[in-house]
Amino acid sequence: MASTRAKILSVGTYVPDTVLANKFFESFLDTSDEWIATRTGIRERRVVNMPGAPASSISAADMGCRAARVALERAGVPASAVDGIIVATFTPDNFFPSTACRMQADLGCKGAFAFDISAACSGFTYALAVANSMVVSGQAKTVLVVGSEITSKTMDWKDRGTCILFGDGAGVAVLQADESGRRDKGILSCYLSSDGSMGDLLYLPAWGGERFLRMKGNEVFKHAVRLMSGACEKAVEQAGVKLEDVDLLIPHQANIRIMQAIAEHLSIPEGKVVANIHKYGNTSSASIPLALEEAWLDGRIRDGAKVLFVGLGGGFTVGSAVWAV
Ligand code: UT7
Repeated sequence: MASTRAKILSVGTYVPDTVLANKFFESFLDTSDEWIATRTGIRERRVVNMPGAPASSISAADMGCRAARVALERAGVPASAVDGIIVATFTPDNFFPSTACRMQADLGCKGAFAFDISAACSGFTYALAVANSMVVSGQAKTVLVVGSEITSKTMDWKDRGTCILFGDGAGVAVLQADESGRRDKGILSCYLSSDGSMGDLLYLPAWGGERFLRMKGNEVFKHAVRLMSGACEKAVEQAGVKLEDVDLLIPHQANIRIMQAIAEHLSIPEGKVVANIHKYGNTSSASIPLALEEAWLDGRIRDGAKVLFVGLGGGFTVGSAVWAV
């Protein structure tokens, strides 16, 4: 008997109220609104912690819970029906207990399994792949797939090569077993890969005095286009569809020029690429659900549509998936 497919029932997000516009950086860095906007596509981002301000007490779990409540409400699923919570984050509340465990308690998902995964900016695609496997294998029926990041905790506000890029936010997808038995709907494929030999291009130390995110942006850029394009081709092939069949490409939002280069490489028209980096910057594992929500709210997630997700993060980690709505 063919195994069950998993479907995405809903998505919910949360972003902090504080808007940090590009202009703000001009007051203390050798940069400009114009440089940031043209080189990255970013105009503003939301942050929990403003540069130089005392650290806020809001946590990745708090933000994840706010996004999860929206997602559960939209799905019409009570917290008590959630079997598991998988949180992708590089800004966890603690090494342990996991951010997912805090969310389990705060949401009231009684008895649900909960764990965090570390895949940096491809975290959402990694969490989705794990959740999908658990649903398909029958281990779980309903799983929260969470990306929640307080990147502002990890910024060196003196490093113009990184601090202008990132923003804070959270996004949650409710993944559920599709009991209809249909094979043409739901998550059709998930592809994961890594290349640890390039770990020093993008990293965040867990120990020691300096705990700032560091990146060799220009080198990451070139690998990002190559690896994300390749991951798109793999996911599409494994799903048994063609790139021409893709209705929407929802890439990790790291740089508008990376997204455009991937679309060009894959011959996907720009109109099919969901981009909201101008509003949020790079929110790491939250960027795909933030873009998914936007597409959903403006009516682009239509019945029958084929959606291609792709992400790349420190590691390097690379993940992609095809979802037939
Ligand atoms: O989410 C995980 C994956 N992350 C990514 O995919 C990010 C990938 N990288 C990027 O998005 C881009 O490489 C950056 C936005 C980080 C940098 O853009 P770039 O076009 O690759 O610039 P670059 O690093 O080649 O630097 C060009 C120039 C340099 O000056 P010189 O050496 O030509 O005089 C930099 O020092 O731009 C300078 N520069 C800046 N100038 C003004 C770098 N950052 C800034 C800045 N403002 N913020």
